[in-house]
Amino acid sequence: MAAGKQIILVTGANSGIGLDTAYYLAKAASNHVIMGVRSLEKGQRALDQLRARKPPGTLSLLALDVSNDESIHAAAKKLEADFGRLDVLVNNAGNQIQPRFPTREQLRETFETNVYGPVILTQTLIPLITASQGKKIINVSSELGSITAGSNPDFYTHQNPFTAYRMSKAALNMFSTTTYAHLKDQGVKVWSFCPGFVVTDLAGQREGRAAMGAESSETSAQAILDIVEGKRDAEAGTFIGRYDAQIPW
Ligand SMILES: NC(=O)c1ccc[n+]([C@@H]2O[C@H](COP(=O)([O-])OP(=O)(O)OC[C@H]3O[C@@H](n4cnc5c(N)ncnc54)[C@H](OP(=O)(O)O)[C@@H]3O)[C@@H](O)[C@H]2O)c1
Repeated sequence: MAAGKQIILVTGANSGIGLDTAYYLAKAASNHVIMGVRSLEKGQRALDQLRARKPPGTLSLLALDVSNDESIHAAAKKLEADFGRLDVLVNNAGNQIQPRFPTREQLRETFETNVYGPVILTQTLIPLITASQGKKIINVSSELGSITAGSNPDFYTHQNPFTAYRMSKAALNMFSTTTYAHLKDQGVKVWSFCPGFVVTDLAGQREGRAAMGAESSETSAQAILDIVEGKRDAEAGTFIGRYDAQIPW
């Protein structure tokens, strides 16, 4: 099913940006997209939904809870056994916990998924990534994690109250820069990518997002497809967004 194809893993692929991204990537017959999901039940429904649209590429499911090391190591073992390489890793799974003054527990929950998860998963998969042709890592971040933008009183994110979320995406951004610095000589390209303000279930706010003018998450999926297709290669090592945007760290 996947022989000769580009092997791509998208975490948190059962909904929102991850789901649309899995579909957009599977539109290319040369791609095999692995949908990383923490609930196989939700994942199977998502997989059935995408297969019903008959994309030319292929899709499969992988149990993967990024907040759990056992799950990460089991997923890595399966990837190695099934494919022996990983061309593209899309670290998309995330949560958004919103209080301005988060508790220790809320900080932990946020960082487990948005920071420790992608860090441990990426480190575990480096041998498979460096064994591939693609060698791409896309960390789905947020403009809310930009310290340059957030410290500018004239910028719209300045007063945004999602403290834990913003800290987590700033930390993920630093992980993008360190990973790129450490691996670029082996041909690995890394981006922090802001998918824009789009309609998804993030923080249970689908309707509120739509009312506030959020765009379709297909716009985020298209931008991730552009990265995978090499259209943003010259921007490796930087923080980018949809519509060719460059975002300040
Ligand atoms: N929507 C926006 O406007 C926006 C803007 C900027 C950045 N982002 C980023 O985009 C990414 C995707 O979010 P979304 O908007 O598409 O929200 P979403 O629809 O809520 O999707 C989040 C996905 O992450 C999964 N997930 C959560 N915790 C996980 C874990 N521990 N292990 C594995 N998967 C886990 C969820 O799975 P379950 O269904 O099992 O919970 C879900 O599939 C996030 O990193 C988010 O920070 C979104």
